[in-house]
Amino acid sequence: MSANRPAAVVVLAAGEGTRMKSKTPKVLHEIAGRSLVGHVVSAARELEPEHLVVVVGHAREQVKGHLEEHYAGTRTAVQEEQNGTGHAVRMALEELGRAPEGTVVVVCGDTPLLSGETLRALAGTHAADGNAVTVLTAEVPDSTGYGRIVRDASGAVTEIVEHKDASEAQRAIREINSGVFAFDGQLLADGLGKVRTDNSQGEEYLTDVLSILREAGHRVGASVAADHREILGINNRVQLAEARSLLNRRLVERAMLAGVTVVDPASVFVDVTVTFEPDAVILPGTQLLGVTHIGEDAEVGPNTRLKDTTVGRGARVDNTVADSAVIGDSASVGPFAYLRPGTNLGAKSKAGTYVEMKNATVGEGTKVPHLSYVGDATIGEYTNIGAASVFVNYDGEAKHHTTIGSHCRTGSDNMFVAPITIGDGAYTAAGSVITKDVPAGSLAVARGQQRNIEGWVARKRPGSAAAQAAQAASEDSAGES
Ligand code: UD1
Ligand code: CA
Repeated sequence: MSANRPAAVVVLAAGEGTRMKSKTPKVLHEIAGRSLVGHVVSAARELEPEHLVVVVGHAREQVKGHLEEHYAGTRTAVQEEQNGTGHAVRMALEELGRAPEGTVVVVCGDTPLLSGETLRALAGTHAADGNAVTVLTAEVPDSTGYGRIVRDASGAVTEIVEHKDASEAQRAIREINSGVFAFDGQLLADGLGKVRTDNSQGEEYLTDVLSILREAGHRVGASVAADHREILGINNRVQLAEARSLLNRRLVERAMLAGVTVVDPASVFVDVTVTFEPDAVILPGTQLLGVTHIGEDAEVGPNTRLKDTTVGRGARVDNTVADSAVIGDSASVGPFAYLRPGTNLGAKSKAGTYVEMKNATVGEGTKVPHLSYVGDATIGEYTNIGAASVFVNYDGEAKHHTTIGSHCRTGSDNMFVAPITIGDGAYTAAGSVITKDVPAGSLAVARGQQRNIEGWVARKRPGSAAAQAAQAASEDSAGES
């Protein structure tokens, strides 16, 4: 357990986020497979707080529903009107019933890059220095819009001044308030009771608690973030994209340091829930989403999108889209394959070029090399499905299953009209429409007989190029004999 385990973490997420210009509440926008508030809640959980309270307001039902679905154990406090960050924290403390004894950490719901590590460091400094409040600050290239950290001649923090309330001289300050704080819970509650609203926005500023506590003689401290980009708050979609690219870089680097070769980190996108084994190779233009796992020595890409998909050791997945599929060890997929939910490819199997599969179990060593649709099927081991075959699974009302045994050889251009079963070791002729079960070891032929009508071209297309070519061919063969 964390030594500086806080009594509570409060996540502020009641704001509307108008600058996103979106029907989706700001904190529910996603990067790397997780909502903005989800990233913050995940980092907060690393502190193992006794209580984790998210303050919701705008679109509260949606945000609450999202938290209940994905982050069980988080509590929500409702802030009816957004009267400022201080007011929001007050609502959270009311939800808790009484001021917590111990540390209360406050974070904003729109800072998805904030790491658990930085939060732990803040809580550590706060405890070690015996502060009433410790603010996480950062030196930023452009401090426009942020609250400025005002220090006295000795370097001690005296107050935080909001951009809108700042003087010309204060606006020149590059050190800003990240919006992340560690407070003594009791003193926080006392301080919040004294916050006034005589500022340019007529709001209760959480930032004022710092100067209130300092004036009352309590210790106030600041912890400067090592990397200012970590506290990037998202207000619009430009910042959303910036955060996505920073977070993605972090995730790709983590994979590379764990032994994964990523040929072009800038064109590879990885969700936070993706896992890798060493010596996997990721080629350019690849998106790995959801709960995707890439096995040792597997090679994925280029131009591939895998969602909730498991790629076995040594598998090769080229120019492929897959969703909820399992790709066995040393299997080969693509180029240009589409694996839909429920596809389960055995070891050393193949789903080749222009092959679509859905709800299909393909046994070890079985190959579907070219131009085929395999839907609702079970295929045994070491079977070969001929090119351009279709598993005809839909009769217009219901889906039906096809079962094909092991060591079968089905001809090219077959239609398997389900429900149907083909026994082990069976063959089917090219161009067959298979509508009846095929017993093990049989050859099924289901196609029209070929008929050649000799001299048809000369009679029906006299003088044409085809007729002349046919004439020349017959003279050649006459000459040869
Ligand atoms: C706030 C800080 C500012 C800091 C900046 C960092 C205050 C007064 N200002 O400014 O010093 O540099 O964050 O990004 O604290 N929220 C609520 N309820 C409210 C108001 C806000 O839940 O009534 C939430 C918002 O949803 C958001 C967070 O608090 O997640 C910050 O609010 P925002 O309006 O973005 O504050 P800033 O003006 O950016
Ligand atoms: Ca903000």
